[in-house]
Amino acid sequence: MKTPITVSITGAAGQIGYALLFRIASGFVFGPDQPVNLRLIEIEPGLPALNGVMMELDDCAFPLLNEVIGTADLDEGFKDANWCLLVGSVPRKAGMERADLLGINGKIFTGQGQAIARNAAKDVRVLVVGNPCNTNALIAMNNAAGVPADRFFAMTRLDENRAKSQLARKAGVHQSKVTNLCIWGNHSATQYPDFTNARIDGRPVTEVITDREWLEGEFITTVQQRGAAVIKARGLSSAASAANAALDTVKSLITPTPEGDWHSVAVCSDGSYGIEKGIMASMPIRTRGDGTWEVVQGVPVNDFSQGRIDLTIAELLEEREAVKDLIPA
Ligand code: NAI
Repeated sequence: MKTPITVSITGAAGQIGYALLFRIASGFVFGPDQPVNLRLIEIEPGLPALNGVMMELDDCAFPLLNEVIGTADLDEGFKDANWCLLVGSVPRKAGMERADLLGINGKIFTGQGQAIARNAAKDVRVLVVGNPCNTNALIAMNNAAGVPADRFFAMTRLDENRAKSQLARKAGVHQSKVTNLCIWGNHSATQYPDFTNARIDGRPVTEVITDREWLEGEFITTVQQRGAAVIKARGLSSAASAANAALDTVKSLITPTPEGDWHSVAVCSDGSYGIEKGIMASMPIRTRGDGTWEVVQGVPVNDFSQGRIDLTIAELLEEREAVKDLIPA
């Protein structure tokens, strides 16, 4: 038997957790011959519900599921983790300012970053899903002394998937035909789904969809506001699609990217595209055959795109300023 991969998941008893765990345990992400250990982390009040989820995991009798641990203890939860999926966070409540949310969640991610540094495996990789995910990832990364910055990611794949399906629908083609879709910047309403470089069946989207007004207007706002639209319709926030995007992200980060394509995930900026070094910004990423990744260089950025990118990067810089006390010098 192969050595099991250990996956630590915070917020494991939440909505996204429920849509995530079973697919990991089934072998969907790491493959049909790769056993998995799950370390499921919840806050104390979440432990009874987590216990129910663990009972259901038992009841699936997954052949690849080696061990499951449920805990509220971060050291136990991140022990030997190869992958950490940081999903749990405190949702924004009525009357709460964005800065309050940044502060409350920021404190969670300092402790988690430190615990990852103390306990995780040498090859650990961390994907932050819990919002505000870019800045939470920035905090975790800066508090995980000794863990290289290139191991930290924040999820913008749901936005990429949403954008691809909107373009496919408009063009009347299957969503698998849409490639080279980059989400730039923050996972928030300022994100920029870059249609200017996207392709449909290998052709520029702007050739296939000639309705420029739609591309520059309704397309972008639909993607930016999709989360709110799902809440309005479902009465609950996106969970299955968010879990699916998290799994897509992990798969894309462990599998070589198809020739000529890229995928979107927020990474620690190295200054590419003039994006301030050190912030967690979404950009076009390619994964190499050995599992490492690089920022795709030379993607054209026209004036329209630059304006949009500047806006979303400015928001990330504001967020960083709001949590600067949580980032060790
Ligand atoms: P949920 O409220 O159903 O579950 C969150 C779970 O996290 C709860 O069980 C809670 O007890 C737990 N939790 C809270 N603080 C924790 C901590 N410090 N340690 C461990 N567990 C903790 O929420 P849901 O729907 O599962 O969403 C989770 C997060 O994902 C939210 O922040 C949401 O905004 C975010 N999200 C991000 C998306 C993205 O594209 N990046 C898309 C959709 C949601």
